[in-house]
Amino acid sequence: MRRINTILSVIILVIFLLHGILGSLRLLGVIPIAGKLLAWIGMGALGAHVVFGVILTIQTFRASKNNGEKYLKQNSLFWTRRASGLAILVLLFFHIGAFGYMNNGNYMLHEFTILKLIAHLLLIAALFVHIFVNVRPLLVAKGVIKGKERRVDIFLILSVLLLLFAGAVIFYYTSWQVV
Ligand code: HEM
Ligand code: HEM
Repeated sequence: MRRINTILSVIILVIFLLHGILGSLRLLGVIPIAGKLLAWIGMGALGAHVVFGVILTIQTFRASKNNGEKYLKQNSLFWTRRASGLAILVLLFFHIGAFGYMNNGNYMLHEFTILKLIAHLLLIAALFVHIFVNVRPLLVAKGVIKGKERRVDIFLILSVLLLLFAGAVIFYYTSWQVV
């Protein structure tokens, strides 16, 4: 099951980084689409990832009852994974449908309020915390990381994407203030 979850995680990772790039370019006014269909396909995979996450958590709790709970309490990575995952889940409620809706074939915009800006910045932060704590073990497991240089490259790319996403959302909020 962990293996299936790992494969799923890679798919979700690629889909949402791509959706984040498309979404950011859309918010910056560079392209007309944000990969909505892609995002919904990703949501299906995300649903399964959450179910696997819950099952793996329950299994870990059961196992830790037998061999000492204190290890679990000390395992900050274990809790960071779960807390950031949960934060993404909660913050997605502020994301889906936040930008606009279809009305008789026309796309009507919702106002992008300060609350939405904050929720989006938190969503992006939670997403990247979740990716940063998960991506290294994942790459080690897949045998992608051989030297330190590769690891630096991957963190550099992720950091640039983080800035792009956050910058795009702030730009979009600012353009609402000018109107
Ligand atoms: C777009 C959003 C997300 C991405 C890109 C993502 C990606 C990942 C990746 C790459 C891993 C590592 C998998 C492995 O090493 O086998 C992982 C693990 C995990 N994710 Fe997510 N995830 C996302 C959302 C969520 C959400 C919403 C939750 C729900 C609470 C969640 C819960 C977890 C848990 C609990 C683990 C650890 C599983 C274990 O013990 O092995 N994730 N995620
Ligand atoms: C955890 C990460 C993310 C998930 C799970 C996600 C999911 C989704 C989903 C399901 C939709 C479709 C909503 C609808 O039908 O109303 C959507 C739309 C959108 N997303 Fe994301 N998203 C994520 C991250 C991002 C990021 C980082 C950005 C850009 C900074 C972004 C930009 C957009 C935009 C602009 C739309 C509107 C598309 C439209 O109305 O045509 N998303 N997202």
